[in-house]
Amino acid sequence: MNKLNTVIAIDGFSSCGKSTLAKQLAKTLKFAYVDSGAMYRAMTYHFIQNNIDLHDLDAIAGCVDTAHIEFRYINEENRIFLNDQDVSEEIRKMYISEKVSKVSPIACVRKALVNIQQRLGSEHNIVMDGRDIGTQVFPYATVKLFMTADPKKRAERRHAELCAKNEAVSFDEIYTNLAQRDYDDTTRAESPLVCASDAVVLDNTDLSMEEQFNLALEIIQTNAKINLHQ
Ligand code: DC
Repeated sequence: MNKLNTVIAIDGFSSCGKSTLAKQLAKTLKFAYVDSGAMYRAMTYHFIQNNIDLHDLDAIAGCVDTAHIEFRYINEENRIFLNDQDVSEEIRKMYISEKVSKVSPIACVRKALVNIQQRLGSEHNIVMDGRDIGTQVFPYATVKLFMTADPKKRAERRHAELCAKNEAVSFDEIYTNLAQRDYDDTTRAESPLVCASDAVVLDNTDLSMEEQFNLALEIIQTNAKINLHQ
């Protein structure tokens, strides 16, 4: 990481609102924003499109390098492209959520994506969210936040989000999927989700988005000595 760059690392459980907060912070701080989870989702989509058996590590290793994943900022929105195709909407679908935790623990996938993430951090001041940003990708991040919230509340929020998009998924299905992903994320051998010892924990169970944003900004200002009024 270029020592001159400021990196805000945001880790935490699925559906805690990490991406929403990270986007708001990046906009306010005028930093680049990287949703690292979207990269694992795009890679999962790539394997599915190429009919790769997710248990076949040789096939996966042979296919990783054929995925060119990048972010493009279009109409004030960060979009993710896989081999020049905008996959921003597709990767949010349930069939990807169900498969992505099979893909994210695979070492060669992590290596490829962490390389891209570190390169982005060396090029820009950045806000990046994920599971291992403060522990593996940027252990020397300027500020580390670790987000958590009550699982039921997280499932309710996600359910409301999917209902708004007319995706017919039940609350129970979402709750079960979240519990499984929490288990998979925290128990996997490769880069499990853990709270870095120098991260500030942000539990947003009872916080509005505005309260959460103000709190995060206060933590960043205190820890990174960023002057927001310059
Ligand atoms: O944040 P998300 O739900 O979009 O992440 C998708 C998956 O990718 C999830 O199973 C966790 C995994 N992930 C990871 O292993 N490391 C990251 N830095 C980001 C996400």
